[in-house]
Amino acid sequence: MELCVALDLPTKQENLELVEKIKKYDVWLKVGFRSYIRDGADFLKDIKKINPNFKIFLDLKLYDIPNTMADAAESIMGLGVDMFNVHASAGKRAMSGVMDRLKAYEKRPIVLAVTALTSFSEEEFKEVYENGIAQKADQFAKDAYESGLDGVVCSAFESASIKSVTRNEFMTLTPGIRPFGEDAGDQKRVADINYAQNAFVDFIVVGRPIYNSTNPKSIVKRIIEKL
Ligand code: C5P
Repeated sequence: MELCVALDLPTKQENLELVEKIKKYDVWLKVGFRSYIRDGADFLKDIKKINPNFKIFLDLKLYDIPNTMADAAESIMGLGVDMFNVHASAGKRAMSGVMDRLKAYEKRPIVLAVTALTSFSEEEFKEVYENGIAQKADQFAKDAYESGLDGVVCSAFESASIKSVTRNEFMTLTPGIRPFGEDAGDQKRVADINYAQNAFVDFIVVGRPIYNSTNPKSIVKRIIEKL
């Protein structure tokens, strides 16, 4: 299991200070809406300047018509990131379109599909998708698997089932991780490291428990020791 640290801080400066503090650790860094919209591709270069071995997950959750998604995926290729994601609810045609477009490249990033956001409660999810989380997450995962993606974003609670309906090698990346039982914030379905390990999760994403702590470096160290 690998650790992915979410860089969701209010300024580029604060994000880079966090990266600097944890630069000796072999972790993934997740760049999402807040940071990418504000700081753009230069921010990715700044991260690599601190340590070129950091792997970057660009969490932009693409959702659009198939052609626009494939075009966006091609633009992402130019950024040199190691992983990005799309929404499974964009449909199989859109997901296959993205993978087809990337076939032209010798080396491509890992591509994941978002199933159910970890902030949804069961009731809130049903209001939008008219189905329970577990059932729909399995279906989204099968769609992503059949479309040639490498894995999905889900909560730790769906990970084992998703692997059983696809393959063990089909990756799961789970946000909503509170490594040592920290405050959940707006996340509804949170799990700790032990739970994620038992659910065969490949990547855990941890944001606030690291960047809101007074000593992010020591939390990262403690997490890595447990993985
Ligand atoms: O601070 P916290 O650990 O809750 O951060 C989780 C990160 O994972 C945030 O950047 C959030 O946008 C992202 N995320 C999520 N649920 C998903 C996909 C991404 O929480 N399904």
